[in-house]
Amino acid sequence: MSILYSPGERLLTLHTRHTTYQMHADEHNFLRHLYYGARADGADFRYLQRNYDRGFSGNPPELHNDRAFSLDTMPQEYTGFNAGDFRVPALCAVHADGSYAADFRYAGHEIRPGSYDLPGLPAAFDRDPENSMTLIVTLRDTASALSVRLYYGVFEERDVITRAAEIVNDGERTIFLEKAASACVDLSFGDWELLHFHGRHCMERQPQRVPLSNAVHSVESRRGMSSHHHNPFTILCAPDTREYAGECYGFMPLWSGNHKTEVEKDYLGSVRVVTGIHDSQFRWNLGPGEHFYTPQVLFSYSASGFSALSHQYHDMIRYHICRSEYVQKRRPVLINNWEATFMNFTTERLLNIARQAAELGVELFVMDDGWFGARDDDNAGLGDWVVNERKLPGGLDPLIDGLKELGMRFGIWIEPEMINEDSDLYRARPEWVLKAPNRPPMYCRNQLVLDMSRQDVRDYLYDCFAGLLRKHDISYIKWDMNRCLADVYSNALPPERQGEMTYRYVLGVYDLIGRLTREFPHVLFEGCAGGGGRFDAGMLYYTPQIWCSDDTDAIERLDIQHGTSFGYPPFTMGAHVSVCPNQQTGRSTTFYTRGVVAMSGTFGYELDLNRLSSSEKDEVRLQIAYFKKVQSLIQNGVYYRLNELDEQERYCAWEFAAPDASEALVNLVVKHVQANAPLIHIRLRGLDPDATYTLEDTQERYSGAALMNGGYTFPMFWGDYPSVQLRFLRAD
Ligand code: GLA
Repeated sequence: MSILYSPGERLLTLHTRHTTYQMHADEHNFLRHLYYGARADGADFRYLQRNYDRGFSGNPPELHNDRAFSLDTMPQEYTGFNAGDFRVPALCAVHADGSYAADFRYAGHEIRPGSYDLPGLPAAFDRDPENSMTLIVTLRDTASALSVRLYYGVFEERDVITRAAEIVNDGERTIFLEKAASACVDLSFGDWELLHFHGRHCMERQPQRVPLSNAVHSVESRRGMSSHHHNPFTILCAPDTREYAGECYGFMPLWSGNHKTEVEKDYLGSVRVVTGIHDSQFRWNLGPGEHFYTPQVLFSYSASGFSALSHQYHDMIRYHICRSEYVQKRRPVLINNWEATFMNFTTERLLNIARQAAELGVELFVMDDGWFGARDDDNAGLGDWVVNERKLPGGLDPLIDGLKELGMRFGIWIEPEMINEDSDLYRARPEWVLKAPNRPPMYCRNQLVLDMSRQDVRDYLYDCFAGLLRKHDISYIKWDMNRCLADVYSNALPPERQGEMTYRYVLGVYDLIGRLTREFPHVLFEGCAGGGGRFDAGMLYYTPQIWCSDDTDAIERLDIQHGTSFGYPPFTMGAHVSVCPNQQTGRSTTFYTRGVVAMSGTFGYELDLNRLSSSEKDEVRLQIAYFKKVQSLIQNGVYYRLNELDEQERYCAWEFAAPDASEALVNLVVKHVQANAPLIHIRLRGLDPDATYTLEDTQERYSGAALMNGGYTFPMFWGDYPSVQLRFLRAD
């Protein structure tokens, strides 16, 4: 049993393979958090808590003169508000009489087999209910009809605990939620650092590690999307934690909109993490009898470094988050025309690129932005999802037929959530955009945002894209989103409900993409938001891959993909070989190095292969052939980062090891070659110590134990950004 209740002590204990989580309903019905960390069977962690009068930390009503008893110092599972805990709250509720208050007490729990769903939201699923369990704890406010149902999903084998909250109004008057986080956890002891992933357009998810000061550290997005700037995934780690040693906790919301993870180190050194949707511009009207569901957050803990934590998240995403059949299925090697033609193309120009690509082994052709409406540049056309016959005479079929003759499949770019003022859709439906009354809107790429909270908008978009998919043989969709949200206001909601829009927008996106992905399960969907502006576990529930960044420079991509890998597996990262000098940086790298980097994602090309020399074309042919040989290892293998963050300046090394240890692919790119430099030496991971491995290129033989303990020494490197791939195959 992974969830245990001991009625005498009123302890609730969750066990995963290597972790334990414990809480306690105390004699006053406060739900105390007792422990989260390495597995400890049979422990009763109540002994850890010692209470003293701390001064200026008040006492609950029934304990009003027990000065050592304070919510302000008590570790909790989900906090109330304005009732004596002065730290960052999980919830803020305003009652009909105007009072801000919630004093939550334990009112019971239930334990069920299997995982749980959250209406309208992505949630970790379990195809075999034997493998997971759910605990639901109910907390009730002492003086109102407000209650919270706390969900805990235990994925024992994955070392992951999912959390979410359902907020319920059983009263007769509306309650206003001004904050509704998914989860709160208090770590009373220990010295922790925060590792978070910040960035910008073209440089997403850069790890930044900071010590916690006695303050609130907040990782957040107010952009209406999870954002290039602050990924919702965060880690708390001990100061000595490295890739293969040390303690760390991960918090990963399944949420693609405004998010906030607050980490507060309080005056006693205790650390609180509150994570979920952002409370900025949020006010939910919870009517009588209504329920509000927060997004789910995946908690995970590792006692042995960041790599193990990443493996836990990678497996969770592989088996319990991504619904697409393409998680298991081999993905086609694709070519995308964006960096080759931008919007300036015709059927013939596209087929010309496709012909060369097919000849070299590419399997899928993706037509990017520019195929619809009056879309000659990015000032017009979004919203008009009809083929531009000037560029594509006769519609899509001549192109698709031409591709079929080449043995290629067809994919297409869409940006459903956006609209240009210069479009037939805007002329017909100006009220469909997000825009505050009597204010000019903010433009970004000269486009506006459709009100995804509206059913009529979603139905229109559904008809456009379901129609397209029904009518044509389309194997792949790239779902883009190219601006942040501002002027968040819906014409379809009354003034008092406008504070619901940041949440309703994301639910609208999930609804539309959920319908389309369910109805067209054989279509491969790739998410995108100006590259990796919405790279999060919420979107991965619908799309098994996301375009990682608009920066296709191989050397920049090393950092982007490395940072992304802390939370998300390589098979989710869209990565392409593009032209040199690179269009974002002007840097030149070898074809080989570009291939090594792109192969560690979903692999494809984004250039006009006709423009290559014949020797470069030969290289592409070999590259694709090699990729197909190692593709299953890359897609299904265990990914290991082989360098620490502080080595990343000079080189980047990573490995894919087969789950059965039958082979491994080591990749190394040197970012900065130096004269007379120390040799690069790495230890391999994930091999069988007792097996012998052959290095494919040289046929040299090594034992697994030697490669994992003695490691491998690379020769001296020379030139700009050299790289190597070493494939080790089990010999016996
Ligand atoms: C975004 C995407 C690019 C491309 C363009 C098209 O920036 O990230 O890959 O599709 O839009 O407008």
